[in-house]
Amino acid sequence: MPQKIIMDVDTGSDDAVAMLMAGHHPNIELVAVLPVHGNAPLKLTLENTLKLLSVGELEHVSVYVGASAPLIGPILAGDGDQIVRMPFPESKIQPQEKHAVNYLIDYYMSGEGDETIYMPIGPLTNLALALRIEPELVKRIPRIVTMGGAYLGGNKTPSAEFNILADPEAAHIVYSAGIPITMTGLEVTDKAVIKKSDIEPIREIGTPWADAAAEIITIIVDIHMKFPGRTGGIVYDACTVAAVIDPSVIQTQPMHIDIELGGKYTRGRTVADTRGRKNMPVNVDVGTNIDREKFLKILYESVK
Ligand code: RIB
Ligand code: CA
Repeated sequence: MPQKIIMDVDTGSDDAVAMLMAGHHPNIELVAVLPVHGNAPLKLTLENTLKLLSVGELEHVSVYVGASAPLIGPILAGDGDQIVRMPFPESKIQPQEKHAVNYLIDYYMSGEGDETIYMPIGPLTNLALALRIEPELVKRIPRIVTMGGAYLGGNKTPSAEFNILADPEAAHIVYSAGIPITMTGLEVTDKAVIKKSDIEPIREIGTPWADAAAEIITIIVDIHMKFPGRTGGIVYDACTVAAVIDPSVIQTQPMHIDIELGGKYTRGRTVADTRGRKNMPVNVDVGTNIDREKFLKILYESVK
């Protein structure tokens, strides 16, 4: 039986590649995608998501529109490495009428989602709102596998990773809720560097979704190569999908994580107890490493 997943997305170039992988890998059933604010305003992340689902031949995947702003704010925007407008034609897909937060509650409370992994690869606003409305959800979501956070240092600030900083209060609600979490943060994603030469095998596959993935990854690599010291591009959210397709692609360490909500310089940090102190109960399986070669193999397999 394929592993069912629901993805929260802020498309976003790497979100787009992640959806193509999840939508086409035979071991995954992509049940729904929930666009949320993040890399761009919701209007754009929604438009990008719909375009991607059309060009990637994933029109059957339901779309429920999520939150347009963080719980407290301010709204953060991506850094321009996210292809703010997907270079694809307008889509005819119509999102569902139900709000993403109501969908999450109805889906998981009905029991339908007992084995469905929830995969947020953007800010955590949707699930935080759902948990406040329906606290019983904690017992119904079997696992969260998420792109977000970092235990060494951030990318948006020296302390904070983008998805967490985009809604720290929501991240606090989700991380302290008690749902099992696997976190693929920057210590994982930054090791899965994609080089220009790694894109060729994707292009050779020849499916429309492989072509779309190759086009997006090429743009990411071109942008990231301009940053000092970079040898390729980072497709953050794709690592999270790979970690569900084959959990052995990453190494993890159980840790206690708190989210920094104050801090002039540290707001949004995922503060990790890397030493396993006895009074700090483990709440997250934190990704510490990724097998880059295996990751590439999973990426190729997914878009075949
Ligand atoms: O920090 C990387 C994350 O921020 C990725 O999910 C990317 O899409 C952006 O949302
Ligand atoms: Ca994202």
